[in-house]
Amino acid sequence: MKEKIEQILTEVKAFHAESKEALENFRIAYLSKKGVIAALFNDFKQVAPEMRKEMGMKLNELKNAVQEILEEQQKQFETTTDTKNDLDLSLPAGMMNGSRHPLSIVRNEINDIFKRLGFVIAEGPEIEDDFHVFSALNFPPDHPARDMQDTFFVTKSPDVVLRTHTSSVQVRVMEQGKLPIRIIAPGRVFRNEAISARAHCIFHQIEGLYIDKNVSFADLKQTLYHFVQEYFGEGTKVRFRPSYFPFTETSAEMDISCNICGGEGCNICKHTGWVEILGCGICDPNILKACNIDPEEYTGFAFGMGIERIAMLKYQINDLRMFFENDIRFLEQFEQA
Ligand code: DAH
Repeated sequence: MKEKIEQILTEVKAFHAESKEALENFRIAYLSKKGVIAALFNDFKQVAPEMRKEMGMKLNELKNAVQEILEEQQKQFETTTDTKNDLDLSLPAGMMNGSRHPLSIVRNEINDIFKRLGFVIAEGPEIEDDFHVFSALNFPPDHPARDMQDTFFVTKSPDVVLRTHTSSVQVRVMEQGKLPIRIIAPGRVFRNEAISARAHCIFHQIEGLYIDKNVSFADLKQTLYHFVQEYFGEGTKVRFRPSYFPFTETSAEMDISCNICGGEGCNICKHTGWVEILGCGICDPNILKACNIDPEEYTGFAFGMGIERIAMLKYQINDLRMFFENDIRFLEQFEQA
């Protein structure tokens, strides 16, 4: 019996299943109730008592070897059959639809409103010189207003900076000397700010500039009022508060009645019923002069708003960092039909 078991053991160890079925047949041949091992256990009853220990060990060795081989070779088939079964090449590719970034959606919507009023898009460089970002906009050297915008410097003397606002595009367009001017300038701006839910070192603005003969504060108010009705809905209230910007005189900040609570008071508007959305004003004669436009003949208005701020109000997003993290779970919510 010992030789028989050893011979079977050698056979078993040499076994290699070509298919899952062959492996199943192997299992039946050896491990089923009527299989080789069951028969050997049956024979075992006749083994003389002094041989039992040795035979028992041999038999167990054989049984374990068969089980090991089964387990081992099973794995191989599991992986191959899995891929075969799970990969249905006729299925439509499970790709997600792309979506526009919420900032692009909001920028395009704002652009469209102003385009309908006759404004055209203007662009300027993100890396700018001091003249276009500050000096031409009436920020004298060492003027404290420069501290309002923490600037990233690329080089010092001559000062090359990352633009801190899109107002620099006003200067670029005025310099070209073609009047009248009616532009909006969307773009990315940079400020040396610690990143938090409310501030970021990169964000986006839309600048507006309208220069012509007889442009007044009434034109500014009506243009922005129209924008607010279009964007935030009919009946949204606006109010102007006096403010200060070096490049406008008169300067104002514009608030709208809170679009979340309708002016009742909520967390977003800090229970005031109003949210600030932009800065604006009548172009200071000095900036027209810096660009060779005669302030006696021409007047203008300008305004600037943060795209993130508008998007946060529109979509009720309370953390600015979401816009820059490119988290697919955030972005896929803006898929448009
Ligand atoms: N440039 C200003 C800022 O970044 C925003 C601004 C305010 C732009 C008033 C304007 C304006 O054109 O008239 O804070």
